[in-house]
Amino acid sequence: MLDSAFVKEYLDTHLEERQVNKVQHGFPSPRYWNELTVPMDEITEDRRRLQKDGRQAGVYLYIGVPYCIKTTPGKCGYCLFPVEEFRGNDALEDYYGYVEREAELYRERWEGSVLTTAYFGGGTSNLYRPHMYHKIMDLVRSFFPDISPAADVTLEGIPQLFTRDKMQAIRDSGMNRISMGVQQVNERLNSLSGRKQTTRHVVQSLEWAREFGLAANVDVIFGWPRQTVETMLEDLETLVSWEVHDITHYELNVGGPTDFALNRFHELPSTLSNLEMYREARDFLLDRGYEQHGAYSFRKPGDPTTRLFREGYRPETTRDTSDAVGLGYAAVSFFGDASLGDGRSWSFINQRNLALYKKAIDEGRFPIERGFRHQPADWLLATLFRKLLSMEIDRAGIRRAMNVDVYEEFATIWDALAERDLAEIEPDRIRLVGDGPFYTPLVSALLAEERYRALREREAHAKKAGLVLVDDEGAEHG
Ligand SMILES: C[S@@+](CC[C@H](N)C(=O)[O-])C[C@H]1O[C@@H](n2cnc3c(N)ncnc32)[C@H](O)[C@@H]1O
Ligand code: SF4
Repeated sequence: MLDSAFVKEYLDTHLEERQVNKVQHGFPSPRYWNELTVPMDEITEDRRRLQKDGRQAGVYLYIGVPYCIKTTPGKCGYCLFPVEEFRGNDALEDYYGYVEREAELYRERWEGSVLTTAYFGGGTSNLYRPHMYHKIMDLVRSFFPDISPAADVTLEGIPQLFTRDKMQAIRDSGMNRISMGVQQVNERLNSLSGRKQTTRHVVQSLEWAREFGLAANVDVIFGWPRQTVETMLEDLETLVSWEVHDITHYELNVGGPTDFALNRFHELPSTLSNLEMYREARDFLLDRGYEQHGAYSFRKPGDPTTRLFREGYRPETTRDTSDAVGLGYAAVSFFGDASLGDGRSWSFINQRNLALYKKAIDEGRFPIERGFRHQPADWLLATLFRKLLSMEIDRAGIRRAMNVDVYEEFATIWDALAERDLAEIEPDRIRLVGDGPFYTPLVSALLAEERYRALREREAHAKKAGLVLVDDEGAEHG
């Protein structure tokens, strides 16, 4: 366990520093995923065993698109995901043919599985022409013929690329939700990203979504260059007035060789301004009837278009079993269960080089770039990272599933957070409260600190022996 003086000093020195958000990448960060061979047969065998024991999780399916429209500055100025420049529908549809072939590699392995959620992201998934949404859903149904009406099937895209025909095809194909990356409604601020998006594009897309009965989430970012609390609140006010029920409000993650990191760093609000934005946004949305379901997600009950995100529903983030399958370039998969033996749970990422992705499929191989074999300590942290995003850790559930008390395991951290009113510790759960959710990246970094030290040591040994490939970029999809 970390000693309490270290934890206190860590908090004192980091609470005012810019956060680097690796939570959404899960644990551990992809830079530690150094296994170049992922044993798919072993994974399939374990899946089967879990299925037989009635423990198999439903499948979360992700399908990614590599392509995005070129912007100046590149990659929208801030994006840390691997993407390729869109050069036309032929290349996109050719790529999709590879996704279909990759899916076939899983056919036998998916037999008898149930689809719980499907997410088509990227990159930019609404670059597809209308007929392609039908193709995508035909593929999904060929694997999972009985998709429950409660399953959330989402297509992600950018406002300026939706058309009425696409929206209709999205609905007719069987998808039931869109997630739109708006980032800034304010056109002046949005233009810093080079995205040619207008307010009209956003409103029009939302209107079409409503016309076709599709649920709609809007992603916005706070901590943007030149943004103030006032411009942020104006944006949120606008989204509320348009009756957007699902709002995801991310803090800008600054890093890599992006324009915002290199050329606009001086225009970014300070960490304390970001904290103020977080508080103001949360209070503003709660005041207007939204509920906070996660560190970054707010939802207003009563959306007539939602099925899964119905009133009172809380997304299931506390499972001790997980089966997330990512298809396509740079997609991430995650498979494991607390009942599996040491080292039988896995995270892995597909090739982040499009040519290598295609080459693997041409050769009939899974296009996996590298993976991470979880030991129980890793699996626990991966579970905690997921739960932290929903602001609440099910202490009793983890005790039952893994025979570990997460309070006792990390007592010095929870105590220090509770002392600062960032967490509340209860017998059956631990909750992030007050500013706690804003500090989710910091909390997860602290929880992972000891394990990262051990992984770094292991990596140093392996490096000495010439066994690992180190990649510091670590960005991923999924
Ligand atoms: C990977 S993007 C893909 C969606 C779509 N291409 C778009 O840009 O809207 C998904 C979401 O991640 C968020 N995102 C991407 N880069 C980010 C960053 N550096 N910091 C915070 N959020 C980011 C954005 O809100 C975006 O809508
Ligand atoms: S933010 Fe979205 S559109 Fe921009 S580069 Fe990243 S994935 Fe592509």
